[in-house]
Amino acid sequence: MQKNNPNPDGLTLISTVEEAADTKSFFFRHPATGKIRFKPGQFINIGVQIDGKPHYRSYSISSLPEDELMQLTIKRVEGGLVSNWMIDQLKVGESVSMHGVAGAFNIIDQPPAEHIVFISAGCGVTPVMSMAKYILSHKETGVKSIQFIHCARDRENIIYQDEILSLEKNHPDFHAFFYLSAATEDQVASPYRAGRLNGAFLHSHLKDIVNNSSVYLCGPMEFMDMVKEGLMEIHFDLACLFHEDFTFNCEVLPGLAAFSVQETVENGHGGNTYKVTAPDFDFDGEAQEGEILLDVLQNGGVPIIGACRVGLCGACKCRVKSGDVKLTTDPVASGILTQADREEGYTLACVSLVIDDVQISLK
Ligand SMILES: Cc1cc2nc3c(=O)[nH]c(=O)nc-3n(C[C@H](O)[C@H](O)[C@H](O)COP(=O)(O)OP(=O)(O)OC[C@H]3O[C@@H](n4cnc5c(N)ncnc54)[C@H](O)[C@@H]3O)c2cc1C
Ligand code: FES
Repeated sequence: MQKNNPNPDGLTLISTVEEAADTKSFFFRHPATGKIRFKPGQFINIGVQIDGKPHYRSYSISSLPEDELMQLTIKRVEGGLVSNWMIDQLKVGESVSMHGVAGAFNIIDQPPAEHIVFISAGCGVTPVMSMAKYILSHKETGVKSIQFIHCARDRENIIYQDEILSLEKNHPDFHAFFYLSAATEDQVASPYRAGRLNGAFLHSHLKDIVNNSSVYLCGPMEFMDMVKEGLMEIHFDLACLFHEDFTFNCEVLPGLAAFSVQETVENGHGGNTYKVTAPDFDFDGEAQEGEILLDVLQNGGVPIIGACRVGLCGACKCRVKSGDVKLTTDPVASGILTQADREEGYTLACVSLVIDDVQISLK
């Protein structure tokens, strides 16, 4: 993986655009080996070198598969390593490495009904932007109307504002709504609305199409919970709700670890220390009960990739050759592993908690 030199197998940065406060778009050239195949809504795992160490993260692709350049839009996370490095350090002409495209949240595998409502907050707009552009340029999907609802603090924080307004201008069936939590009624006019999206507003968007629409939702966990509750209140069929959560690693992981430790303590096994070994890499370490296997392996120098860190991308697939781990999500249900994989001992290290002595292989 190269930081400073163009890499024919990686993504070379061609240009950047400041999208909103603390948010930048990166336009990458596809690798020399050809265009990247993805479904609108999916994300890509990228790798960067920071202070000589590789780091991997997932970013949704907001461009279309047929576009000349691939667009990623990254928002600064306070104290975050890769987001800040990308925004401050990555220069045009440099490249990042690629580690696969993934994501069940996409417009092809989760096809729309006649009416679509996209709902996003913050950088959750990135996958739905790709989906919306795809629908608008592929009339064969049969979609009759799109409501594009985006929530931000204020106008300065609306990502893709000009592009969304231009879609509205050029497509009579595309309707944009921006909910601004820090604005007051007297400061806004359509398509801007003051306040947070709530059940009453959702009702106004869906009342005439509730039985013939699909909702695609992306944003922080609490935001998505609020929208789901609002949809349930208006008896929206949740089978037509598709969503993806961008919750950052550290906001998820300590919670999961705490849950595990607490649960195992209740089972009478709390506070234990276990051996974790990976003989292929001469790793022979220890883990506290409930620690995340991925952290244990990475801290021990095992070259395992953790990109999404929430069980979505499959980058951290590894095999438990002996012993057992506790999974915090079901990778078979999410389609990342097959039942046969599980029977052969494969797991996803990012959602596996150490509850036993384990021997791990990356093969
Ligand atoms: C499917 C998917 C798609 C995504 N798409 C996008 C996208 O399109 N655009 C986008 O901007 N992001 C996206 N993300 C989020 C992205 O992958 C990163 O999680 C995000 O950029 C933060 O990474 P980071 O390295 O900057 O932060 P990290 O360094 O991973 O830190 C994350 C958080 O943890 C805190 N933290 C870090 N270290 C510690 C510590 N030791 N103790 C306590 N707290 C700590 C940080 O302050 C920060 O709040 C997506 C995520 C997923 C799973
Ligand atoms: S890092 Fe993506 S599934 Fe584990």
